[in-house]
Amino acid sequence: MSESSENLNLQREKEASAAKKWLSVKEAEALGYYNFMSYLGVPYYHTGGLVSTRKLAELCQIDSTKKVLMVGCGEGFSACYLARKIGCEVVGIDIAELSIEKAKERARRLGLSDRVEFRVGNAYALPFEAGTFDAVITEFVSQFLDRGRAFKEFTRVLKPGSYVGINEMYKEEEIPPEAAEEIAYAEKIFREITGLPFSLPTPEEWKKGLEEGKLKDVNVRKFRPSPSLGEVKALIEGMGGSWKFALYFTGLMLKMGKYSLFSRKIRHRFNRLGEGKKILLRKKSTSKYAGYVLATGIKD
Ligand SMILES: C[S@@+](CC[C@H](N)C(=O)[O-])C[C@H]1O[C@@H](n2cnc3c(N)ncnc32)[C@H](O)[C@@H]1O
Repeated sequence: MSESSENLNLQREKEASAAKKWLSVKEAEALGYYNFMSYLGVPYYHTGGLVSTRKLAELCQIDSTKKVLMVGCGEGFSACYLARKIGCEVVGIDIAELSIEKAKERARRLGLSDRVEFRVGNAYALPFEAGTFDAVITEFVSQFLDRGRAFKEFTRVLKPGSYVGINEMYKEEEIPPEAAEEIAYAEKIFREITGLPFSLPTPEEWKKGLEEGKLKDVNVRKFRPSPSLGEVKALIEGMGGSWKFALYFTGLMLKMGKYSLFSRKIRHRFNRLGEGKKILLRKKSTSKYAGYVLATGIKD
């Protein structure tokens, strides 16, 4: 075996064991929100599912010749999906190391390592030269960012004439006071548990943000989440099939049970997450004022 492939194997073993190792309660409590979720194996998932990912790719005119950057790619679910379905080259970056380890594992398992690359990186200081990409995409990420800074950085790494495309949540402009208060409370919860500047812009605010990021022809389209059986199937397939999904699910329950039982801090985190999700996604009187946008803008 050559030295480089030996190093590669060692690196793979290191990543796999870090992701599988059982952490002590103290170690788990010390992880940032997204590293913790990736460690547990909780699949964070945008509400429009892969249907919205595919639609956004179409709006950004992504085809097999394009090189796409997915910022905040998480565990690489959408990145691998686009590489498989469209055949484009995808680079995924995320600030959470454990999510990137899982994303790399996914790409290897699906035989996509020649088309998909994952690295740890920050949306505000992308580790790429200006004019590198044919499209820059975020899904349920820009809502967690300081958009003024992030959109300018996305535009920098784009080739002229190419798209920024975002798949993010929005809230309505006109919301009755009681529902508006609850939605503001949910936004506060997400800021608290992630430590990130989470907020839900209105469609008009998304438009303004993208325009301030020096993008032209900005177009914001509103959608309501519509969960489907196909999405659940795609999630199971993306995890390696039903047996792997069953194993994964058992592991997830064991880990969640252990850490919730022994850590008040972690229990609190899960409770707050449940509260916030209910307001934005399930409770009728509030969730009807929120949805997701697929928005695009072009670099001059
Ligand atoms: C809600 S998850 C969405 C993950 C994925 N895009 C999806 O749709 O499943 C938000 C992701 O944004 C990442 N993130 C947050 N701030 C970031 C930053 N400054 N730079 C890069 N990634 C960031 C988090 O680590 C997390 O993986």
